[in-house]
Amino acid sequence: MSAHTDMSAHTTGCILWFTGLSGAGKSTLAEFLTPLLRELGLKVELLDGDEVRENLSKGLGFSKEDRDTNVRRIGFVANLLARNGVIAISAAISPYRSIRDEIRSRSQAPFIEIHVAAPLATVEERDTKGLYAKARAGLLKQFTGISDPYEEPLHPELTLHTDRESIEESATKVLLYLESKHLIPQGSSARARG
Ligand code: ADX
Repeated sequence: MSAHTDMSAHTTGCILWFTGLSGAGKSTLAEFLTPLLRELGLKVELLDGDEVRENLSKGLGFSKEDRDTNVRRIGFVANLLARNGVIAISAAISPYRSIRDEIRSRSQAPFIEIHVAAPLATVEERDTKGLYAKARAGLLKQFTGISDPYEEPLHPELTLHTDRESIEESATKVLLYLESKHLIPQGSSARARG
């Protein structure tokens, strides 16, 4: 068997598109899954909204137009990666349904929309970055969930209830889904359970 044939095992890329309110657990889950998938020998790249906004989307704000631009850029890069066999993970609020649907329709690899569905009351209570308090006080304008919309996915491939599931449980759901679609080797989900 040639080296080329060997390399072709499990090189089906995909886009794991996490969407949800700030503080719902998108980055936490993405950062939990990334090393697990890499340990399986899979190629993974993480596009995190907070990080993308420091480089690729530097200078963009939070108007609908700027968010759409940010999210489109992430979708564009995710597609380049995924069609080359990488598991491209996006962790951005991506609040607008039409842009998420546009990215899905343009994707040349399986697009897996994952709604990280912690309720507003929960993320506001956690307020890990202190931003909800600022938004309520009127110090942050156009804050998703407070003074700006969040459009829930209508038909996500997965919904993760991070207010009542552990990270391990949510991650296992993602891995089981990927196994069921033959995007990762069978048995991989055992990893998330430790
Ligand atoms: S998106 O709407 O364009 O997808 P993205 O995920 O990149 O958003 O960035 C969201 C992060 O920016 C939040 O987690 C939060 O830390 C920060 N942020 C600052 N201002 C806002 C705002 N007005 N609305 C939402 N998030 C904000």
